[in-house]
Formats: sequence, C-alpha cells, structure tokens
Amino acid sequence: YMPAPSLATSSGNNDFIRCLLPDVPSQLVLTPGSPSFKPVLVSSIRNARFVAPATTRPPLCIVTPTNASHVQAAVRCGRAHGVRLRVRSGGHDTEGISSRSQRPEVFAIVDLANLHDVHVNPQEATAWVDSGATLGELYYAVAKAAPGLGFPAGVCPTVGVGGHLSGGGQGLMMRKYGLAADNIVDATFVDADGNLLPDKKAMGDDLFWAIRGGGGGSFGIVLSFKVRLAPVPPTVTFFSVTRSMDQGAVEAVTKWQTVAPALPDDLTVRVNVQQRQANFQSLYLGNCSAVVATLRDRLPELGVTQADCREMSWLQYAAYIYFGDAINSTPPEVLLLNRTLTLGRFYKNKSDYVNKALTKDEWEKIFTWPSGGAVEGQLVLEPHGGRMGSIADADTPFPHRGGVLYNIQYVESWNGNSSTPSWVNTLYDFMEPLVSKNPRAAYANYRDLGIGVNKQVHVGGVSSYQSGKVWGERYFGGKNFKRLAMIKGRVDAGDYFRNEQSVPPLHL
Ligand code: FDA
Repeated sequence: YMPAPSLATSSGNNDFIRCLLPDVPSQLVLTPGSPSFKPVLVSSIRNARFVAPATTRPPLCIVTPTNASHVQAAVRCGRAHGVRLRVRSGGHDTEGISSRSQRPEVFAIVDLANLHDVHVNPQEATAWVDSGATLGELYYAVAKAAPGLGFPAGVCPTVGVGGHLSGGGQGLMMRKYGLAADNIVDATFVDADGNLLPDKKAMGDDLFWAIRGGGGGSFGIVLSFKVRLAPVPPTVTFFSVTRSMDQGAVEAVTKWQTVAPALPDDLTVRVNVQQRQANFQSLYLGNCSAVVATLRDRLPELGVTQADCREMSWLQYAAYIYFGDAINSTPPEVLLLNRTLTLGRFYKNKSDYVNKALTKDEWEKIFTWPSGGAVEGQLVLEPHGGRMGSIADADTPFPHRGGVLYNIQYVESWNGNSSTPSWVNTLYDFMEPLVSKNPRAAYANYRDLGIGVNKQVHVGGVSSYQSGKVWGERYFGGKNFKRLAMIKGRVDAGDYFRNEQSVPPLHL
C-alpha cells in the first residue's frame, strides 16, 4: 500500500477514533494495526486494480456498523474532526471509490456489510432491504417469503443493494418493471449532519428523488430501502445461443439492435460480444414454447429451438444466469455465497447508450477490434424499450429513457499490474460518432473516472459545479444534474460527502 498521508497520524485523526468509541464498540472500528483490517478492506473489492499498491491509499480506519446509531456517530465524528467517509455496501463500484481515494485526503470507510436484513411483506408485495445486503440475498429472501414475486435488479448476486439502487440498477426485468431504483417506495437515511431520517416524509420530495438513481456517495448514507416487488410466473425461460462471425454473428447483432427493444416486455434478449462471437441470452417470463415462437417470427437469425431453452423458477434463474452450469445441481442457496469470492483480474469499464442502430460494417469493425495484446475485451448489450421507454426523463435522476435502443458496457480485463487498458479506450474513441451525443451519455453505475472528475473551487473548498457538469451531464442529463446539484446545495452545502465524482453543491 501507499503510505498513509501524514495527516492520518495527526492528533485530529486520532480524535476521530476517540470520538467514535463512546458510541461504537471498539471491535467495530478497525485500524490498520488490527488483524482483520486488511481482510475486511479487500473483502468486497472485486477488481484487482483497487488493491494494487500503486492505486491504493489505506483508510484511516474501517467502521463496520451494526446499527443506525453507529453510522450517525461516524458522520458526526467525521464532520467534527475533518475525516471524510467512503460508504461501502457491496464494494462493486467500477472505479473502487467506496474503498479508496485517489486524492491525498484522510478518509474512513463505513462498511455496511453487517446491515443486511431483508423483511418481505408478501401481502403488500414490498420488502425493506438494508443497504449492506447483496442482490443475491434480496432475491433469495423475496422468493422464499413470497413465491410468485421477484425484484427487477442486476445480474451479479454479489452486487450491493446500497450502491446499486442508488445509481439505478439495470437487469433482465427492466423492460417490464423498470430499474431497481424505479421500484423504491421509501428509505431510511443518515444525512450530512448525522441525523437519522426515518422515511421519505422526513427526507422531503427532492432528497427522496435524488437518492433514487442520482448515484451513491453524494447526499448521505442510505441505511435501507423499501422496494415494490414484481409478479413473476412459476416458470421462466433461459436460453443461450452463441454465433461466430462465420455463423452470422454480425448480421444477427445488427438486426438485434432494433428487434430486441421492441420485443414483448416480458422477453429480454441481451448480447455478449467477445472473442469475435456473440452470445445471446434471454429471460422470458413464461415458458419455452412461447419464446421459440416469438423469435422464429422476430429474430429467425438466431435459430432458437426448444433444445436451447431451460425452464426454471425465477429464483433458480437468478442463480443460473450468473453461475451457469457450474451450479446445475446446486440449490439457489448459492446466492447467499460469502461475498469474498476469489479476487480475480484487473478491470476497466466504460459505457454508452445507442439511439440509432449501427450498420453491419461498423459491427464488423467492432467484432474485430484489436485486443491490444493479451488483454480481453467484452461488450455487454442490454436492450431498453418496454417500461424503460415509458418513464419520463425527469421522473428519476436516471435520464436514459425514451428513444434509447440499448446500453453498451465495455469491459477490458487483464492479469497484471504492468499493463494498462488499451482495447477499451481505442474502441470508445471509435464509437463516439455512433452513439448518443450532446452529451455522450453514460450509466452512473458503470462509473468511469475517465469521463471527468471534480475539481475543488479552492484548496479545502467545495467541488465546483463546472467540473461536475463534465461527467454529471453524461450520467444524468443537464436538467437532472442541475436539480441534483441544487439538492446537494441544500442537504450538504459544505460538500462533506464528496469524492472524485460526487454531485457538487449548487447555490443559485
Ligand atoms: P459500492 O459499495 O462500491 O458503492 C458504490 C457507490 O455507492 C460508492 O460511491 C459508494 O460510496 C456509494 N454507496 C454505497 N452504499 C451506499 C449507501 N448505503 N448510501 C449512499 N451511498 C452508498 N449494474 C447494473 O445496473 N446491473 C448489473 O447487472 C451489474 N452487474 C455488475 C457486476 C459486477 C461484477 C460489478 C463489479 C458491477 C456490476 N454493476 C451492475 C454495477 C453496480 O450496479 C455498481 O457498481 C453499484 O454501484 C454497486 O453497488 P455496491 O453497493 O456493490 O457498490
């Protein structure tokens, strides 16, 4: 690790820890000398880039709250002693900013992993879920307590509820039910003064709007969300079809671009493009014969037959889509897996939105884009349309609604510290004229510091609105970003909750 900034040893920062201890049991405050400090620090980091010595500056300590009062104490003491907080739920931030600071400023991590209860109300079709729960825990609890209900959110079961719902939350049911954030009906929250706001009434309409898609880490700490659950049938269908370029992959993807967003909203077909192949995967809320019939009509290029399908329950699907055949005989309890999975490769993510279909020639270039050596590059295409297209841009901070055909996630991965991403950056440049414009849009949950970072107005001052606009208008659109900044100006005028891409305060 990089040496901690010298401030970390100054008396002010020891005061932070002293301030915590009357309110937070000492075993919940991990300092670098404690044996559990490093295991907890890396516990939910999924990207080796953020534990590499060159990019990591250790926090002053990690606070691991087991109740709301511990979170409140962390905010009050942090404010009082000049220590900033990085809030971490599932730790999956694609730039790692819940675990690290690129700037030499003193910070502590508030790791919410101990707060992971899920309370399902089957009669009301709602659930209260703590921020530290994983999506897998949420899916499991919902399906067990209320068979026939599910929740529309992301695919990876180790993603945390806190960050995911704060930034939107897209998944294979969004065409029918919208984003995870579209289904938040209430929340509990600790504000920048350390006050506990027990519901949306206490938060007020603006703040409650901001936390449903305006990105984590800017306004305060969400302790739990109340979400609306969605009906799912007893049987859902998965299929997976892979086509190489020789087998017409380029033609199939070219056609998919306009067909997938217009399919019935209970059928989602997403695409992975990797190693000159396209893999098409589905979630259909119904049985196989209906999918085969629909695709024979709408996308015959895929040649989907009964043999490509697997029918299962929604809960089994949630496990299968991520773990695949590896868990063929494993029960859905795999969704509750310890989140400390093996720390794998280095990753760099970027994203785009496509409003106008690309041509076959353009796809051919993308399929054969030079991989830059040993590096692996992957594109994930998630179709919009359906419910996503019928929500107004201003209803939530997430503006990528009507007119969007699909979202692209670019993921470059590599194995060592010595290499730097190249495939993703050169392809991203090539894509500029082909994707959304003015501004070129990006998805907040696929955070990319490459599109801009905040600058402070002056040393120790607040983040500047001008610098925030550069990246913020891409994630949220101009109007929504301005509204977010004005809300920030009211709820955290001093910019306590700030990071490389936090919403800056705006006072008009
Ligand atoms: P993490 O804890 O790192 O937090 C992310 C951000 O939110 C940080 O700024 C953090 O400070 C802040 N934050 C966290 N908890 C907070 C809280 N309680 N209150 C306020 N702020 C808080 N996305 C998607 O839409 N669909 C998908 O299918 C996937 N799949 C996926 C797979 C994998 C392997 C990765 C690494 C990422 C994804 N994502 C995704 C992206 C994911 O939604 C995004 O990274 C989320 O922000 C992760 O939420 P965590 O709580 O895990 O992150």
